Amino acid sequence: MTYLPGPPTHVPPELIVDFDMFAVPADMDDPAEIWRDLVRRGVPEIFYTPRNGGHWVFMDYDDIITAYRDWEHFSTHYAVVPPIEPFPVMQPQGVDPPQHKVFRSLLAPLFTPIAVRAMHDELTQRAVRLIDAFADKGHCDFIADFAAQLPTGTFLHLMGLPEERLPEFLKISDVFFRSTDEAERNANATQIYGILNALFEEKQANPKDDIATLIVQARDEQGELLPYQDKLDCAFLLFIAGLDTVTNTMAYVWRYLATNAEARATLRAKLDDPDALLLAVEELLRINAVSNLFRRVVDDFAYKGVQLKRNDRVIMPNTIANRDPAVFENPETIDLERLVNRHVTFGVGPHRCIGSHLAKRELLVALDYWLRRIPEFTLADSLPRGNAFGGPVMGFRSLPLVWQAG
Ligand code: HEM
Repeated sequence: MTYLPGPPTHVPPELIVDFDMFAVPADMDDPAEIWRDLVRRGVPEIFYTPRNGGHWVFMDYDDIITAYRDWEHFSTHYAVVPPIEPFPVMQPQGVDPPQHKVFRSLLAPLFTPIAVRAMHDELTQRAVRLIDAFADKGHCDFIADFAAQLPTGTFLHLMGLPEERLPEFLKISDVFFRSTDEAERNANATQIYGILNALFEEKQANPKDDIATLIVQARDEQGELLPYQDKLDCAFLLFIAGLDTVTNTMAYVWRYLATNAEARATLRAKLDDPDALLLAVEELLRINAVSNLFRRVVDDFAYKGVQLKRNDRVIMPNTIANRDPAVFENPETIDLERLVNRHVTFGVGPHRCIGSHLAKRELLVALDYWLRRIPEFTLADSLPRGNAFGGPVMGFRSLPLVWQAG
């Protein structure tokens, strides 16, 4: 079965806009600007771009929500943009209901608010170690020295991989998330699967209290072991889903704080009030939504008068949904006390992010210690050209920060 889209003969010319979600101009320092630029240009709410294999873009909050929720029309199975076949079927993200519940119900209990609260001390120690290592120096590259390390270290810990392997994993994930060289990317995916396979073999022989053991021992309702490849794909998804998203969300937040003394002071004043801090974090997540998810049209159908064809791809830019003026009052204002906040940063519907509480906890823990230890900081003078990147997860290659040394 192929899931490649056909030629776009069904797309009327007035719905075609030339837009490349991966292409961020070298002098643009915020990748979300390529999306906001579309709003400024007044593009149709549903448009088609011939770039990256050709795909639709939904710009309206309600349409984005529909694509997330309506899995009978908009599938996650083989939905990647640009379309690549064969492509690993991520478990549970790449599987539609009801089958997706097999792996979803395996993972979800591990990341409930209560389960994540139990990780608080471990996460705090991790953040403290990282921040203490550079706090007295007066400068760091926030991404290399902190934002990439915290979620990668957390991943190792959860999967039961030894801490000494952190540098190796940082290198592997850097290639995975940043390389554009096809041969390098293929070798990298093979390497990651190799590591996960070795990890599973070790946990089979030597079960421990960690997620890798739980996944490798997982059985279906009849008591049969789940297919081995699905289990590898599930571990692979945890690697993809929980690293770059957290790194770049943090980078966005620290970049904002580095340029806004009032926001730093507001957050510092909330450090001893967890509820107020969490409310502020929700707003930082709304305005800094890094993911642009994709779906595949299951069958030909007309959606709001627009003819969609089987295997057409659809992109849902969360950053646009989260700034929809019909849903958010003063959407461009960052209101750290915003009470009603129906942001879609973690998606909605059957595939809503399983790791949202973990991601929030990582942010809270990091903000808490950082703002006590380094209350004032700014951006280093200049950011390198070409520092921002687009795609399904947007972000920055580096973020040099400075503060008073000692
Ligand atoms: C700020 C950080 C994060 C953001 C912005 C984010 C965003 C998202 C989004 C938008 C989805 C929905 C995917 C879809 O509908 O196709 C998702 C799913 C998922 N996320 Fe996250 N995520 C973050 C952190 C994490 C972390 C730390 C984990 C680690 C446990 C994680 C694990 C997952 C998993 C397993 C899914 C798939 C759920 C399913 O298919 O049922 N995420 N995430």
